[in-house]
Order: sequence, then structure tokens, then C-alpha cells
Amino acid sequence: MARRKIGLIGAGNIGGELANLAVSRELGDVVLFDIPAKENFAKGKALDLEQATALSGADAKVTGTSNWADLAGTDVLIITAGIPRKPGQSRDDLVETNLPIIRNVADNAKKHCPDAFVIVISNPLDAMVYEYKRRTGAPRAKVVGMAGVLDSARFALFLAREANASVKDVRAMVLGGHGDDMVPILSHTTINGIPVQKLVSKEALDKMIDRTRKGGGEIVTLMGTSAYYAPAISAIEMAEAYLGDQKRVLPCAALLEGEYGYSDLYMGVPVVIGAGGAERIVALDLTAEEKGMLAKSAESVQKVRDLVKSKA
Ligand code: APR
Repeated sequence: MARRKIGLIGAGNIGGELANLAVSRELGDVVLFDIPAKENFAKGKALDLEQATALSGADAKVTGTSNWADLAGTDVLIITAGIPRKPGQSRDDLVETNLPIIRNVADNAKKHCPDAFVIVISNPLDAMVYEYKRRTGAPRAKVVGMAGVLDSARFALFLAREANASVKDVRAMVLGGHGDDMVPILSHTTINGIPVQKLVSKEALDKMIDRTRKGGGEIVTLMGTSAYYAPAISAIEMAEAYLGDQKRVLPCAALLEGEYGYSDLYMGVPVVIGAGGAERIVALDLTAEEKGMLAKSAESVQKVRDLVKSKA
């Protein structure tokens, strides 16, 4: 079988780490795409990564380009094109800059790699992935957004540290929009099957929930730009689930068509990812409190979606 092809739109901080992980896991050959002004930068990064394979032993080609024709035949397309947050900005503040970019990317991807499984990372995530799907008309199983895996990972790390447990044993689930009112689902968060409330006090949990919600912002404040290692590995887990038909249950932004009581909305829900893409949305029994928090989060996501829809 020919090697799979991973297309990365945006060769910046997340794009570079995505390429690094895709190569080291030998997911396939990697095409690192950026705008013409950054073509040499993309080519340089690709060359650096490819030279590293002579030492790591990974069999993968890495190409840098600003030519969409090089994306033909892409199996997985991961989109980070856009401007990241600066200190003091919310994700929603990025609509003005990132909306024209996602539209440009959608038009080109539709033309050059219409069959790819697409993972959007650009912020504001839920609105950008919505716009990508609307603009391309691709099947909903083929277009998802990366947010829940990252938000859940952040929550899982804080829980592991607080409970003095291994990160391997923590199963955390964060759903809803990728914003300050994302919803940690405590009823489905365990330390190796043990309900988290048995091991961690309510006070500590509340603090960790707050820190998770502001987790991206904490890093923006420290670094002056947004996170990239954890976002990249989150998307790679999703890509690998698709390429390996792993049927993993991962929290992803998926198009809701009645699930959880919402329609025409991309929002974080548990999704089975396999060779069919987003094969199934899993319905969880949420507590009344969780449903309430999800409704609040959905309201915020709907506002940004409506803003995006209103802009011609
Ligand atoms: N097509 C392709 N690439 C583009 C386009 C476009 N139309 N417009 C911008 N880019 C590129 C930029 O040139 C830049 O190299 O996207 C890249 C983004 O890289 P960084 O600025 O390093 O940003 P990064 O940290 O990777 O984050 C990208 O992901 O998490 C989100 O909020 C974050 O929206 C931001 C995105």
C-alpha cells in the first residue's frame, strides 16, 4: 500500500509540531503548506524535519510548499492557518482575521483534496470548523474540530497532579465549545474507573475546572502566543484514529444534527473516530447541572456562529 499523505495547512508553531509528530509516528508523507510569503519558511522547516529522519529512522517524506496542487491526494488535512491569540485576546476576537483565511483554505481544499478527513484547529475553533463545513459542503463525517482532546488533556493533567496519580490512569472528558465556558463532565471523569469526586475534594475540583477553562489563556499570557505542543498531539491522536481505523472515542467538535438537542452547530461531543471519519456521536447521560452548563456553552458558540454567518 502506498504511504498515506498528511497535509498541514499553516507551517507555523502548531504546523511544525504536527509535522514532527506525524513523521515520528510514521503516519505518512507530510506536506507543509503556507502562504507564498512564507513558502521558504515552510520549505526550510520541511527540510530540517526531513534531515532529522536520517537519525530517527522514520520513513517519511516532508515537503514545504505554497502550491495547493501539492495537496492532491491528501488523506488527512489539518488546518492551523490563521493568527494565534495575543495576551488579552479571546479566541472570538480572532474572527475578523481568521474568517477570510478559513474561507480561502476551504475553497482550495475543496478543489484540490476534496476527499481528505479534515481536522480544523484554527480559532475560534467551533466557528471556523462550522464555516469550513458550510463552505465546502463536505460530509459531516469528514470535517471535525480539535478542541475537546486538548481541553480534556489539560484537565487530566491537573487531576493527575492533584490526586498524585499517573496521567495514564486519568480519563477526563471536557465537552461544549472551546471557550471559557467549556464543560468538564465530572460524571464521566475517572481515575482508572474510580469516580474523580472520590479522590479529589470539591474545592480542588472547582479550581482545576477554572484553570482548565482558562488553560489556553494561561499559556498565551506566559508565552505571548498560543500553545502548540499539546494542541498538535491532540490533533495527531485524531488523525491516527482515522488512519488506523481505531474507533477511538474522542471529544471533538462535530456538526450536531439533533444530538444533545442542538442542530446546525459545531460543538464538542464524544465522537467515535475510525476509517469512516467521525463515525458516530455518542450520547451521554448528563446530569442536570452538566446539561445546564452545556446550554450556556452552546449559547456562546451560537453567537460566534451567527456572527460568521452574517459576514458575506
Ligand atoms: N493559508 C495557509 N497558511 C496561512 C494562511 C493561509 N491562507 N494564512 C495564514 N497562514 C499561516 C501563517 O503564515 C502562519 O505560518 O498560518 C500559520 C500560523 O502559524 P502561527 O502563527 O505560528 O500560529 P499557531 O500557533 O500555529 O496557531 C495557528 O491555531 O490554535 C490556533 O489560535 C490558533 O488560530 C491559531 C492557529
